[in-house]
Parts: sequence; C-alpha cells; structure tokens
Amino acid sequence: MRKNIVAGNWKMNTTVPEGVELAKAVVAKSTEVPADVKLIIATPYTHLCPVAEVVKGSAVSLSAENCADKEKGAYTGEVAANMLVSAGCEYTILGHSERRQYYGETDAKLVEKTRLALANGLKVILCVGENLEEREAGKHFDVCKTQTESVLYQFTAEDMKNIVIAYEPVWAIGTGKTATAEQAEEIHAFIRKVVADKFGAGVADDMTILYGGSCKPSNAKELFAQPDIDGGLIGGAALKADDFIQIALSF
Ligand code: PGA
Repeated sequence: MRKNIVAGNWKMNTTVPEGVELAKAVVAKSTEVPADVKLIIATPYTHLCPVAEVVKGSAVSLSAENCADKEKGAYTGEVAANMLVSAGCEYTILGHSERRQYYGETDAKLVEKTRLALANGLKVILCVGENLEEREAGKHFDVCKTQTESVLYQFTAEDMKNIVIAYEPVWAIGTGKTATAEQAEEIHAFIRKVVADKFGAGVADDMTILYGGSCKPSNAKELFAQPDIDGGLIGGAALKADDFIQIALSF
C-alpha cells in the first residue's frame, strides 16, 4: 500500500527565525492530521538544523530542497547528502523545475544526486513535469516519460521504496493555474505505467506520486480524490501552517 504524503516546499522563503516559527505552527497542528498521511517540510539549507529540533518527536519529517551531485570536497557552495542526513533530513527534493530551469540541472546530474542521496539513506522526492510550451505542443507525456525514465531506470526496484515522484506541470507552479484533476490524473496514471513498465505493477502500485502546482485548500480535495494522486508537493500554500494542514486534511 502506498503512502499519502503532503510535502511543503518552502523554496527560498522565510528567515531562520520565521522558518522556526512556521515549523512550530505546523508541528502544533500536525496532530489534527490522520496518521496515514505523512507530513514533510522542505526548508532552505540554513533552516535545517533548527527546524530538525522543532520537528523531533513529531509526525513531521524534514527534507532538503536539493543536494550536491558530488560526495564531498572542493565544491564551494554545495551541500552533500551525508551533511543533510547529519542535519536531520529524512528526504530531499531533487530535480525541481526551478533547479532545472535556473540552475542547469540535467537528468544526468539528477542520476548522480539520486545515487548519493539513496546511498546516504535519504529518501528522494523526484520532480518531473512539462513547461507550457511543451504542454501546448502536446509533448507533456513524452517529457514526463523521459524525465522519469532517465533517472528512475538507473535504479533498482528496491530503490523505488525510497523514491517519491512529484508531477509538477511548470505552467501551474506559482501561477495560480492548477492542472485540472483530470489533467493531473492522466499524467499520474501514465507515470505509474512508466514505473510499471520497468519495475512491474507491484512496485508501481506502491509508488507515491504527488501533484504540485498551485495546490491549495480549495482544490486539494478534488485532486487527492483521483486514484493515482497520492498527495501534493505544496509551494506557496505551505508558507501558511493553516493552509498546509488544511491541504493535509483533504484526503
Ligand atoms: P506552488 O509550488 O504550490 O507555489 O505552485 C509548487 C512547487 O513548486 O513545488
């Protein structure tokens, strides 16, 4: 049985004190959320250690938003997977479209990042999704297939237990334009099939696939009601504890 997950992606928002307050508010309200919904917050690197203290002993897990494609050494400004683990992370997001778009993240780099994350005991939230131009050209299935295969097919069925996929259509991120539940569901079902083609139906059935892109309390219920949508990766709405928890109560 796959897990339902609601993960907050804070991106480059909040100072450390503000982030600690937000985490405290999420932890305080997390008791309202049924135990079968996993809550994750992904914070900037600077916030990880203090937020790890806040979430300790609660139902909220900590994630980074990225990690290095190198193990250690002379890579100024990078943060390695084992450092994230030592800071208290259980997860890292990888391949977010903002990293692909603004920081030259390629599928090849994502294979290395995923390899290092898994080798160090982190679980990975791998983001895939097409941009507006690709959607309008009818290439959304191809783009999601390529991004999913390029990374996942380098790993084993056993590794899949530690990977979550987030389908985030780039045109829906931070724009207020949500994919309709039908648009999201057809891609989720398709991605699950891409996983099944390589690893079998059992592995695909167990894979959590999140939707991301302007997911908010007002649309989460309809999205999460779809058979292949197992929760959300939440940007803007994760910056308000009430909204984030409301989304987690939408299953
Ligand atoms: P959004 O961001 O909810 O603000 O659209 C989602 C994401 O990029 O993870």
